[in-house]
Amino acid sequence: MRSPRHSSSSILIGSLVFAATSSCTQRLQDACTALSTALPSLVTFPNTTLYALENTYWSARQSTLAPSCFVTPTCAADVSTAIKILTSLSTPFSVKGGGHAAFPGGSNAAAGGVTIDLLHLTSLTASRDRRTVSVGAGNRWINVSAFLDPLGLAVVGGRVADVGVGGVILGGGISYFSGLYGWACDNVRSYQLVLSSGAIVNASARENPDLFWALRGGAGTNFGVVTRFDLAAFEQRDIWHNSLLFPGALNATLIPLLQNLTVNGLPADPQTHTYFVMAYLPALGGHVILSDQFRAAPPPANTTPAVFQAFNDEALLPTIVKTTTVANISTVSRAIDQAYGSRQTWSNTAVSATSAALLVEFVPLYEAWVSKLVAAANGTDVSPLMIYQPIPLNVLRAMQANGGNALGLTPSDGPLMIVQLSVSWASSALDEVVESSCKDLIGSVNALAAKRKLGNGFVYVNYADSSQDVFASYGKENLARLRLVAKKWDPKGLYQKLWRGYFKV
Ligand SMILES: Cc1cc2nc3c(=O)[nH]c(=O)nc-3n(C[C@H](O)[C@H](O)[C@H](O)COP(=O)(O)OP(=O)(O)OC[C@H]3O[C@@H](n4cnc5c(N)ncnc54)[C@H](O)[C@@H]3O)c2cc1C
Ligand SMILES: *[C@@H]1O[C@H](CO)[C@@H](O)[C@H](O)[C@H]1NC(C)=O
Ligand SMILES: *[C@@H]1O[C@H](CO)[C@@H](O)[C@H](O)[C@H]1NC(C)=O
Ligand SMILES: *[C@@H]1O[C@H](CO)[C@@H](O)[C@H](O)[C@H]1NC(C)=O
Ligand SMILES: *[C@@H]1O[C@H](CO)[C@@H](O)[C@H](O)[C@H]1NC(C)=O
Ligand SMILES: *[C@@H]1O[C@H](CO)[C@@H](O)[C@H](O)[C@H]1NC(C)=O
Ligand SMILES: *[C@@H]1O[C@H](CO)[C@@H](O)[C@H](O)[C@H]1NC(C)=O
Ligand SMILES: *[C@@H]1O[C@H](CO)[C@@H](O)[C@H](O)[C@H]1NC(C)=O
Repeated sequence: MRSPRHSSSSILIGSLVFAATSSCTQRLQDACTALSTALPSLVTFPNTTLYALENTYWSARQSTLAPSCFVTPTCAADVSTAIKILTSLSTPFSVKGGGHAAFPGGSNAAAGGVTIDLLHLTSLTASRDRRTVSVGAGNRWINVSAFLDPLGLAVVGGRVADVGVGGVILGGGISYFSGLYGWACDNVRSYQLVLSSGAIVNASARENPDLFWALRGGAGTNFGVVTRFDLAAFEQRDIWHNSLLFPGALNATLIPLLQNLTVNGLPADPQTHTYFVMAYLPALGGHVILSDQFRAAPPPANTTPAVFQAFNDEALLPTIVKTTTVANISTVSRAIDQAYGSRQTWSNTAVSATSAALLVEFVPLYEAWVSKLVAAANGTDVSPLMIYQPIPLNVLRAMQANGGNALGLTPSDGPLMIVQLSVSWASSALDEVVESSCKDLIGSVNALAAKRKLGNGFVYVNYADSSQDVFASYGKENLARLRLVAKKWDPKGLYQKLWRGYFKV
């Protein structure tokens, strides 16, 4: 075991390491004790109000884990101290950004481990030239928009208020503004991060460009604890948001409209953005479809952007509810926030978006899946969704900027449709059938797409189930490159071994 150098707590650690060799349990308790000595008042132990607060995650399944303690650094140097202590004691740990990973352990450590909760890293500053915004890694998107809306600025970030900046940006980041600028990861100017050695480094196009590339899509747990993101900012006023709820029976008409929108509409008007959700809501009569549409610059009052026109013909496609607003990002992101408290899972794949017929063919598979889950739930709550999220060519082109990201997507792969399953439910008795049926349905979607020669198989890490082989889907070359970067910056593989959860290269 190594003693950390340059640490105020190194003497203490030395003696704890010595004392700890007798038993594993002892050693793990010592990690929390050592942390609380080195970072007084920043460690939270079980059975306290603060612990309960920090152990609150969007998905109830994450909160079922109980780390030995949480440590809550206030700056990059604190993160460095924590990492040195955890690695020197070989303590398993996890990092919590906004805590919106769905599966248990995604961003929480199990008993015996430590969770580093970044909640105090809340700095937010805009550069004088208004072109860069520095965002502390503990912010949620609502904190970012509450800061930027009054300045008339925005960044390419997550769409939903309470979600954390860290997980979204590191995994990719689908934004309202992706049609113009690509995903969130394509718009990071610089990262400040803590390596497994405890060193604090920058990664940008100029400084450590290999790390900069890997962080753009390579996800959180492989390279470092990012403490600050410097994001490209742009001038932005209120956005247009149109939310349409249709009866599910219209799917055979709406899906072809979505497909045409993906191939022709979104690239023709890159200010626009959309997603398309199939849901089963007995209270509303059964299957429904929710389509949310956005435009960065609002169209003239009481008009609809031309590319969305076909969806907005009430005579042909009567809605159950339709809400159109022009509002700041804070308001829009709050309007689509998702409640805490349920068990959650998701999984996804991508298929070619060039065939409307294929996307319609998935609907009966989805219906059978819903029936199976509803039956298995015996009347307990279950809400299965199938979501289509377009990756049109304009987004794929924007992703090639800055030397390209790590996701392995090129315009020649596209246009693509992400097919995402998302389930929230109440009873742990349903866990197994939810997990296995999602796996089966993603398998069927991929098999049908392959049969039609329309397969792709890209897995977006931020909607992936823990069983999915995310990095293999980035392509052999990118995976090899990611592994080389991880090896270079974490030569002892400490993060690969000790930083648990999420996806490893
Ligand atoms: C309601 C909701 C809305 C969503 N909307 C969008 C959306 O609009 N666009 C989109 O692309 N995705 C969206 N997602 C998916 C989202 O990208 C993932 O859930 C993401 O993991 C959330 O980030 P987080 O920081 O809240 O999660 P966490 O669970 O805290 O973190 C996820 C992973 O990232 C790691 N991590 C977090 N912060 C850091 C850091 N600073 N340094 C190193 N590693 C870190 C964690 O260790 C963990 O492995 C949404 C999810 C939900 C639940
Ligand atoms: C927390 O409280 C519960 C119930 O009182 C107890 O069983 C448990 O041992 C306590 N945990 C710790 C770590 O003190
Ligand atoms: C972030 O936003 C939430 C919701 O508005 C708020 O409660 C919290 O205090 C904000 N955090 C900071 C550091 O401003
Ligand atoms: C966003 O708009 C709402 C409604 O107009 C307003 O009340 C709120 O102050 C605005 N928020 C910010 C952060 O500018
Ligand atoms: C990282 O960049 C900042 C400026 O943003 C600079 O002050 C700091 O010295 C850099 N760190 C290293 C290790 O080069
Ligand atoms: C899809 O549309 C078909 C034809 O209208 C209908 O029979 C089916 O029930 C719909 N499916 C869903 C999930 O709404
Ligand atoms: C497809 O989209 C284009 C661009 O918005 C539009 O001009 C065209 O009418 C649409 N075609 C169909 C069949 O909807
Ligand atoms: C539903 O009932 C069956 C049979 O009684 C039982 O095995 C299963 O666990 C129940 N599922 C839930 C979610 O309660």
